[in-house]
Amino acid sequence: MHLKNYLSDRAADVDAAMDVFLPKAKDRPATIHAAMRYAVFAGGKRLRPVLCLAAAEACGGALSNALAPACAVELMHTYSLVHDDLPAMDDDDLRRGRPTCHKVYGEGMAVLCGDALLTEAFLVLAQTPVTKRYGTRDLITELAATGGSKQLIGGQVMDLEGEGKKLTRRELVRIHEAKTAALLTTALRLGAMTANASPAKLVALTQFGYNLGLAFQVIDDILDITQSTEVLGKTAGKDQAVAKATYPSVLGLAESRKQAAKLTRAAMNALRPLGKKAARLEEIAAYLLRREY
Ligand code: IPE
Ligand code: IPE
Ligand code: MG
Ligand code: MG
Ligand code: MG
Repeated sequence: MHLKNYLSDRAADVDAAMDVFLPKAKDRPATIHAAMRYAVFAGGKRLRPVLCLAAAEACGGALSNALAPACAVELMHTYSLVHDDLPAMDDDDLRRGRPTCHKVYGEGMAVLCGDALLTEAFLVLAQTPVTKRYGTRDLITELAATGGSKQLIGGQVMDLEGEGKKLTRRELVRIHEAKTAALLTTALRLGAMTANASPAKLVALTQFGYNLGLAFQVIDDILDITQSTEVLGKTAGKDQAVAKATYPSVLGLAESRKQAAKLTRAAMNALRPLGKKAARLEEIAAYLLRREY
């Protein structure tokens, strides 16, 4: 199957599952459920859940068993975006081509919407079928550790504290590892766990996710400078406007592009232990390097 079709088919699988998992928009109190659905069904790329499904397949598992963790990861990601966009954080008006959650529902509701999406992530994750090697506790521990103060939240803390400061390359990498690479890695690992993957395969996917996740954030930083608001679906040029510590600001655009390519190669090399079954993951990595939004 052509990659474009694979990506849109898997994204459709995720959306269908998400529609079943999420409370209905009319469930009371209706405002919060409408806000949750507004944030989730806004046309994101669904990269993390698709990686979760592709990792399950690469390890010989069934897609249907990986739908719950795929949705859980996307719920955590979406919550992080809702909060990331708040005036107290990046203060963005546009997300996924639409007004941000707080612009439509107000700041108080957007805070609560993020809280609810994060909590819902664990409710959904707990529905994942267990395997011989990995029980519910393993899955919960995986996602909680990634979403917590040492990874995603820690990365957002360092990102906020880094505004206006001249960071070293090492400090910048640490931010990107935590705020972005950790969740991409967990998406892959959770998918592999639903396929009862061997520890060696989990290690390979962890290396893949780490390098792919770093490349992904380098490219996000590059696109913020080089792409239009219309194509991005979020306000371009924001990072420079608030003096964010980004790859281009520390290394320049040309060197950032080189780094993204190098990280993508490292990601692909990490897939070797998975053999031919990892062809789709390799294809996704190549595609993400070329992406325009
Ligand atoms: C945006 O992620 C936030 C980053 C970690 C760079 P995506 O670019 O995956 O956003 P959506 O999900 O497609 O909207
Ligand atoms: C967001 O990084 C990372 C998380 C939400 C955890 P950015 O702040 O660069 O993401 P965008 O550019 O707003 O999507
Ligand atoms: Mg941010
Ligand atoms: Mg932001
Ligand atoms: Mg960005």
